Amino acid sequence: MILLHNAYLATGEREGDGAILIDGDKIAGVCFKEKDGSSKLPSSAGGMSIPYEMLSDYLSRKFDNLQVIDIQGKCIMAGGIDAHVHFREPGLIQKADIGTESRAALAGGVTTVMDMPNTNPPTISAAALKEKIGIAAEKGANHVMFHLGVTNRNVADIQRIINYGDEQTGISAKDFAGLKVFMGSSTGNMLVDSGDALEEVFAMNQKPVLVHCEDEQTIKENLAKAKEKYGEDIPFEEHENIRSRRACIKSTIKALEMAMRHNTRLTLCHISTKEEVEMVRAAKISNPDITAETSCNYLWFSDEDYPRLGSKLKCNPSVKGASDRQALREALSQGLIDTIGSDHAPHLESEKSGNYCKAPSGLPSVQFTLPVLLTVADQEEIPLTRIASVFSEKAADIYGLKEAV
Ligand code: DOR
Ligand code: ZN
Ligand code: ZN
Repeated sequence: MILLHNAYLATGEREGDGAILIDGDKIAGVCFKEKDGSSKLPSSAGGMSIPYEMLSDYLSRKFDNLQVIDIQGKCIMAGGIDAHVHFREPGLIQKADIGTESRAALAGGVTTVMDMPNTNPPTISAAALKEKIGIAAEKGANHVMFHLGVTNRNVADIQRIINYGDEQTGISAKDFAGLKVFMGSSTGNMLVDSGDALEEVFAMNQKPVLVHCEDEQTIKENLAKAKEKYGEDIPFEEHENIRSRRACIKSTIKALEMAMRHNTRLTLCHISTKEEVEMVRAAKISNPDITAETSCNYLWFSDEDYPRLGSKLKCNPSVKGASDRQALREALSQGLIDTIGSDHAPHLESEKSGNYCKAPSGLPSVQFTLPVLLTVADQEEIPLTRIASVFSEKAADIYGLKEAV
């Protein structure tokens, strides 16, 4: 048994001085110091209240194998759950792989990740999912979970896997975290544009549905206009006008409308505009299972950074204006943003050094979510309870990863 003593604890509900009792690989108790100086013992230690100052002496007497570690006032939060990473394996391992990226996650305090399906082959079948699970197991990356990708044609197959499991591979609903729908195409061209397929997925409420919202037609038209104006030499600043706020808003309206109609367990991935913040605020009233994710890309950068960073800042959706960033920070503070996904999307430097049309979209960021969040919390006076919630606890709720203490 281990007692992490003299810590500053931050959970989704509460922050303050306290201690954590660990039994093997499980947390056996979280003991906050109450206002009157008392602390409630974990039920495994009797459950009564004693003076906080006596906690380590008392538990040392009770458990003779207790190791007390003095945390000296440092902050302890639960490990991060990043439900949105692109780890590139299989098929794109020149960019990165499950081994390297899962270690980067751990280095950034992220102890569970969920990998997106736009690999090669894409994770759109039980067989492809089984292959990925096998790779992660081989690499000892047991903190990597996977989302299954939706296509225009595989919805019936997904429904079958959820209902009955896949006999050939043994894959069943417990083997994937959620369903990923690209309502706008990005790296990997996994666009779902069939109205029927979308309706069917949104009506399926056994699994969380994660959507990338950017209207394809709007982007195409904007890109054509930019090409007409600039030829092949489109400046990276134009990314915001090509992958425009209008493209995001249009697609997000469509997703929210369907999710309100079907009561979908919808997660809007990486929202990037102030309009989407307001839409989420309204939509949650009719369907509280709608959740919103943003990434640190949009909390940290703004369009003022394009001239300095060029292709390094090219990601989909695009980074928008400073007022969008501010609205997202306020939404984080108010609890409208439910989760922070890194949208970790590594590419080779050689690929990123191409011109606008060639340079792929995405930033490698899984290791930096926590430092960015803590800095933003400091700048905006956001309590650590909010950070603990968006970094970890809410995702545990959405994906059913909570275990009773
Ligand atoms: O910028 C992005 N990069 N957005 C996506 O939707 C996909 C990702 C990737 O996989 O490169
Ligand atoms: Zn996306
Ligand atoms: Zn993504």
